[in-house]
Amino acid sequence: MTTIGLIGSGNIGSTVARLAVAAGHDVVLSNSRGPQTLQDLVAELGPKARAATPAEAAAAGDIVVVTVPLRAYRDVPVEPLAGKVVIDTNNYYPERDGVFDALEDGSTTTGELLQQHLPQAHVVKGFNNIWFDHLRTLARPAGSADRSALPIAGDDPAAKRAVTEFFDSLGYDTVDAGPLAENWRAQRDTPVYVTPYGVFGELPGTPASAQVVREALAAAKPTAA
Ligand SMILES: NC(=O)c1ccc[n+]([C@@H]2O[C@H](COP(=O)([O-])OP(=O)(O)OC[C@H]3O[C@@H](n4cnc5c(N)ncnc54)[C@H](OP(=O)(O)O)[C@@H]3O)[C@@H](O)[C@H]2O)c1
Repeated sequence: MTTIGLIGSGNIGSTVARLAVAAGHDVVLSNSRGPQTLQDLVAELGPKARAATPAEAAAAGDIVVVTVPLRAYRDVPVEPLAGKVVIDTNNYYPERDGVFDALEDGSTTTGELLQQHLPQAHVVKGFNNIWFDHLRTLARPAGSADRSALPIAGDDPAAKRAVTEFFDSLGYDTVDAGPLAENWRAQRDTPVYVTPYGVFGELPGTPASAQVVREALAAAKPTAA
């Protein structure tokens, strides 16, 4: 059992929290408006959940999921995340986030931006390529024939092992896409983004095996953001 800190408790954060509690983990939720605004979600999740500030959620988590709009990544608390495994779900939507020149010209990736902001954390990109409702509906126990896989990317092998174990507990296999600099392979508009798991907005979604995910990652073409 692990404590999962969530910085951001919206579509993806609340879905990860639900899966984590179902898997027996404790969760500490946070958002921008304060713990009092998360009481309904905490009540739904039960005694394994509590709400806190982002700094408290960061300090409490063995694994911390950063799942805020990309424009807010610099608000993520730095000091309490030193030495921790941080999962970065964030995607770049300039119409929502504003224009980031280094993403537009392809000189960096969203995962590397968060890693620069958190130099002592071990950032692993994950959960960013699946619609949150498919993340909820496609979770399956280990060994299921229709289990789906999710890609990860990161520079620290121990952090990637921890995330692989965490994903396994939630109901997913993992495909290692390589170092953090390779996380463009799973960014918006690449073959592995959303579509392998079904049509955006339509449930219940389509299971995507590790082989499907591996082939989609390999088919990605380098383009700016
Ligand atoms: N939606 C999806 O299916 C999906 C799938 C994969 C990846 N993603 C990516 O994952 C990220 C989160 O997406 P989402 O759909 O879950 O977004 P969302 O539903 O809008 O939730 C965003 C969460 O972040 C919190 N937040 C915003 N600014 C913050 C700050 N400065 N400090 C702390 N918390 C802050 C919000 O809190 P308040 O409400 O209190 O402001 C909210 O809890 C985005 O980068 C998105 O592109 C989304």
